[in-house]
Amino acid sequence: MKIIDNISELKEEIKHLKGSIGLVPTMGALHLGHKSLIDKAVGENDNVIVSVFVNPIQFAIGEDLDKYPRQLEKDCELCRNSGVAIVFAPSPKEMYSGDKNSLTLICPPYQLVDKLCGKSRPGHFDGVCSVVAKLFNLSKANKAYFGQKDAQQLFIIQKMVKDLNFDIEIISCPIVREEDNLALSSRNKYLTSNERKVALNISKALFSAKEEVKKGANKRNLIDNSLNIMQNLDVEYIEFVDKNTFEFQQEIDKNTLMLIAARTPDTNTRLIDNILLWE
Ligand code: PAF
Repeated sequence: MKIIDNISELKEEIKHLKGSIGLVPTMGALHLGHKSLIDKAVGENDNVIVSVFVNPIQFAIGEDLDKYPRQLEKDCELCRNSGVAIVFAPSPKEMYSGDKNSLTLICPPYQLVDKLCGKSRPGHFDGVCSVVAKLFNLSKANKAYFGQKDAQQLFIIQKMVKDLNFDIEIISCPIVREEDNLALSSRNKYLTSNERKVALNISKALFSAKEEVKKGANKRNLIDNSLNIMQNLDVEYIEFVDKNTFEFQQEIDKNTLMLIAARTPDTNTRLIDNILLWE
């Protein structure tokens, strides 16, 4: 496995790869959720590239850019043991010639970013799309793998690929959960042991909603029930969108994706999770 931190070496290395290329874009601090993307990519491609890059332009001022966990050696070990061909781990300077204001960016449509995570994280999805587009161009990948936990991100990337005719297939991979249903996230590392318990109420609210829908609960009932379960969290949103359009829904139906974002009480860690209510 090659560990590459500069663009010219990556380009040179890719010239010599034979067969299909799968890309797994990550910000590192790899966990079993990432491992599931990597395993799928390794199973479906002749070569897999994992990018490890904490992308500064997708963090707003005051967010956790500086404290975001960085553990490249450990990440490389996981990649090596999983059959990855290349880990691409550039510095911000290697990826960007200047600050965000001086760069050409890809800005997804307003109606997709002015809600859910985009509402509290202005500019976030411009940063995500711009780095993902660069990674698509650099890697020359045939397929790229993204997790469904970041449902809005996945939807926006699929739209970008369609709108801009990127020649790449986006593979959407299921959320990986701990045994007690906590969705895996690199930000779980921030949680105190008390917060870890409290954070469980996010998935509890989602799984409970799924059960309540079977009994005929409506949107109001689900919101009330979820708020009740998540009393110890600072809930940012509980929303319901059509999984095919990401438009808000007034009524629950077979396409409803329920999404939650909430902050934990001590470290103010922002966690997200979602569930298809009718699966
Ligand atoms: O989901 C992430 O880890 C990041 O948003 C991504 C897609 C790697 C872009 O930096």
